[in-house]
Amino acid sequence: MNLREFGQRFEARFGDRPRVFRAPGRVNLIGEHTDYNDGFVMPAAVGFSTHVGISPRSDGKLLVHSDEFPGNFEFEVHRLPERRTGEWCDYILGVASVLRERDCLPSGANLLVHGEVPIGAGLSSSAAIEVASALALLSLGNNQLSLPEIAKLCRCAENEFVGARVGIMDQFVSCMGKAEHAVLLDCRSLEFKFVPIPPRIRLVVCNTMVKHEHSGGEYNDRRAQCEEGVRLLKQRFPSIKALRDVSPAQLESHRGDLPELIYRRCRHIVTENARVVRTAEALQKGDLRAVGECMAESHMSMRDDYEISCRELDIMVDLANGREGLIGARMTGGGFGGCTINLVRIDAVEQFKTAMLSGYHHATGISSDIYVSNAGAGITEISANG
Ligand code: GLA
Repeated sequence: MNLREFGQRFEARFGDRPRVFRAPGRVNLIGEHTDYNDGFVMPAAVGFSTHVGISPRSDGKLLVHSDEFPGNFEFEVHRLPERRTGEWCDYILGVASVLRERDCLPSGANLLVHGEVPIGAGLSSSAAIEVASALALLSLGNNQLSLPEIAKLCRCAENEFVGARVGIMDQFVSCMGKAEHAVLLDCRSLEFKFVPIPPRIRLVVCNTMVKHEHSGGEYNDRRAQCEEGVRLLKQRFPSIKALRDVSPAQLESHRGDLPELIYRRCRHIVTENARVVRTAEALQKGDLRAVGECMAESHMSMRDDYEISCRELDIMVDLANGREGLIGARMTGGGFGGCTINLVRIDAVEQFKTAMLSGYHHATGISSDIYVSNAGAGITEISANG
């Protein structure tokens, strides 16, 4: 995004010069659906971002516009809608509502949004909008919140206003991402560690072009099934608070106490948590074979136990497996469509891309989009320094 052009567009619309914030989307290397189970995840911020420009208003209005998304929205700061409107501006409204509850919402603002993160691809376009608009709105007041606090308030906006019971992963990495690193996050304590991604590896994200959607539906069902697992396992292990507290051995020893479906959902979570930890260690040791094995197991577990994959995602992963330069491949994000993440040796990327594009088209008739990225930085203000 060209900052000058964005500034000019803002000025033409609102007659003001904006401050501009840029928040990235993310790709998760491993640790899927573990975040709302208090477990571990290891995402990285990617090169796509959402930009939010902001300037203050003194008339109590919140004006929201984007040249890419439809609609021109105008709200009264003191009479914001109480629940989602079904429009893309819900992510901003959700953030504004949470800020208002905390007395951190400015008395009015103009916001211009420019989104580059593909929508519905599972790359967290929603978290990027939330995080960028939260920081933008906070910048108009004298409210200093830490980035992890901002991540939490954005999650709260999505849980309570938008109605998707998502975990903290996307908002956290959009805030805290670091160039050339993945973020190993403990979603219970929010302790985190940057894990370097070797420079000879690229993140190759293959979009099935099957849109995923998780403001409700299957995503929330999975979460409820995990909660049911905790409720049943608590009868044997009263101290557990979340599936994070259950080891694979404990789960196996009480398999008979759980309905088959709940058991499989729990098995995905407890084994996935262990895989995140193993992957982080392997990446740090340079044991790329182990990284690849964990990613392959993770995909199978999502396909068979958690049942959040789909035909197109499985085809994409099958096409990648065994290819020259591939370290590991799996579906990434909430599931039911969206993208796969492939760790690929830099010298093999072009060949890999070509083979994936034609193989996927041949198998499905769909033209895929493939994005090659390095891990990038989290949210930044870009207006000050361009
Ligand atoms: C979505 C949610 C995240 C996480 C992933 C699955 O991206 O927003 O909180 O649960 O799905 O890992």
